[in-house]
Amino acid sequence: MENEVKLAAGAMVALAVATAALVVLPYVQVRDIQAPEGLKPYSSAELRGREVYIANGCVYCHTQQPRDRNLGPDAERGWGRASVPGDYVYDKPHLLGSMRTGPDLFNIGARQPSQDWHLGHLYQPRAYVPGSIMPSYPYLFETKPEAEPGEAVLKLPPGAAPPGQVVVARPEALDLVRYLQGLDHTYPVLPPQPRGATAPAGPASAAAS
Ligand code: HEC
Repeated sequence: MENEVKLAAGAMVALAVATAALVVLPYVQVRDIQAPEGLKPYSSAELRGREVYIANGCVYCHTQQPRDRNLGPDAERGWGRASVPGDYVYDKPHLLGSMRTGPDLFNIGARQPSQDWHLGHLYQPRAYVPGSIMPSYPYLFETKPEAEPGEAVLKLPPGAAPPGQVVVARPEALDLVRYLQGLDHTYPVLPPQPRGATAPAGPASAAAS
């Protein structure tokens, strides 16, 4: 009997320590984080696009977390400054990603603002980047002999559209591109302040640029 009590007590302590280290402490660290001044909440189109991003597994190949200069050449690659916790306040769930089969997309909206480019690249990546291993997403588009008024017709490079047909974007594709265009975290942030300092952690400031 004594051994069972010890075992149960040991298990409880191990669980309590793990919960404190993995749940309570991280929560305490980030609960007061505020959005940097330059960060806008997502629009409803961007939120729908975010769902399309999740549903299509973009996160399996793309990160959204540029690293610090000391940790890698992300800034030289043009992926932007290192991200700070405040950059993610509107991201539920966050889409940090862990694999970089493709480039980091945290600032893709600043790097590539063109809707035409994004739509065409999603329809056929290899029409823009020869040898790209990114999958094409043809089901986000419709191929037809003629577009109806108001439809977004893709401006594809020569030879990429099926002969005699036009390719138009479905609403999911347009939402996804809104989301990608909105991924722009190039606003300045201050390094995090020590706890108890007067300035709140991570606000945007013109002085930092
Ligand atoms: C199998 C891995 C893979 C998946 C899944 C994937 N990509 Fe990519 N992606 C890549 C690779 C590799 C590149 C670089 C070559 C290119 O531009 O096509 C890339 C490039 C890009 C670029 C251009 C980045 C730049 O800096 O020019 C964008 C935007 C993009 N992907 C968006 C997406 C979206 C949105 C999805 C989901 C619908 C997605 N990708 C899914 C591998 C992937």
